[in-house]
Amino acid sequence: SVPPLVLGIESTCDETGVALVRGRELLADVTASSMDEHARYGGIVPEVASRAHLEALLPSLEAALASAEVTLADVDAIAVASGPGLVGSLTVGTAGAKALALGLGVPLYGVNHVVGHAAVDELVHGPFPERFLALVVSGGHSSLLLVRDIATDVVELGQTLDDAAGEAFDKVGRLLGLPYPGGPHVDRLAREGDPTAIPFPRGLSKGRELLRHPYDFSFSGLKTSVARYLEAREASGEPFSRADVAASFSEAVADVLVTKTLRACEEHGADTLVVGGGFSANSRLRELAAERCAQAGVELRIPPIRYCTDNGAMIAALGSAVVRAGLPSSPLDLAVDSQMSL
Ligand code: KG4
Ligand code: ZN
Repeated sequence: SVPPLVLGIESTCDETGVALVRGRELLADVTASSMDEHARYGGIVPEVASRAHLEALLPSLEAALASAEVTLADVDAIAVASGPGLVGSLTVGTAGAKALALGLGVPLYGVNHVVGHAAVDELVHGPFPERFLALVVSGGHSSLLLVRDIATDVVELGQTLDDAAGEAFDKVGRLLGLPYPGGPHVDRLAREGDPTAIPFPRGLSKGRELLRHPYDFSFSGLKTSVARYLEAREASGEPFSRADVAASFSEAVADVLVTKTLRACEEHGADTLVVGGGFSANSRLRELAAERCAQAGVELRIPPIRYCTDNGAMIAALGSAVVRAGLPSSPLDLAVDSQMSL
């Protein structure tokens, strides 16, 4: 029999995403972003993001239906990211999803955005193995997940205690005088520098801190070290290389992420690693993950970047998995949860 057609809606931050998935097949994926409107403020403005979702939701829905050559009457279920994220942004997407579910008389499924970042890989690389690790890294999250079933059994082994990886890059970008969001600029600069030039700290990687937080991350101390380093050079007038700072900082972030992730793979007997989230565009992370996964015999799955940044396909993919697992649908008064845990 034909699997149900699931419509996925994403609106947790600044991307409005609408996608259609049948089984593990992606039929349409439309994304609108309000990032350009936030850039001049140097960060996401929640009010601006909410309004942009309101404006983009219906046109994105129409574009997705047209692209899949289906109508609303063909939709069998609605999945929506109900957290974590900005409360105003979440409210727009879930309100739209509820209206559609009510109007069409189809079930509504509220799903977790972070899990969605891992789920989308199934649309690209096929069914998941029995167990795997997922590293979800972006401007908003840095989480390490142990997945035995993407719909029913996802455990968060660790997460960042302060800044997300992308957020740390954006802050270091600001310190280096680069435009917002700084992540891609720092990455580009890093490729011209020496990653071993400055021994920046690896957070939560030694002694008692490591024992207490084996799979958690911390990047704010690292960011402070970069700030101190730059202050000291500027005060003394001693010459230094901005590229070396970027490269050494990037190395510290990638090293901690990959080291802890592969240790978790070993501990949990997982031979597959899925990496998702917008930060998976980082070139040093990709390089180091590829190198160390190959050494460890771990299969590395990273979807193309358009499925790593926030999008509707990840929500439709997770919705499809949830329907497949036969989980109960969400009530129509489903609440959003900006701090949603797993
Ligand atoms: O997933 P995403 O598009 O948005 C959310 O945060 O949800 O992730 C964007 C984050 C930003 O912090 C951006 O600066 C960072 O990922 N980023 C990068 C790179 N590309 C994007 N950071 C470092 N290197 C990159 N190549
Ligand atoms: Zn995200």
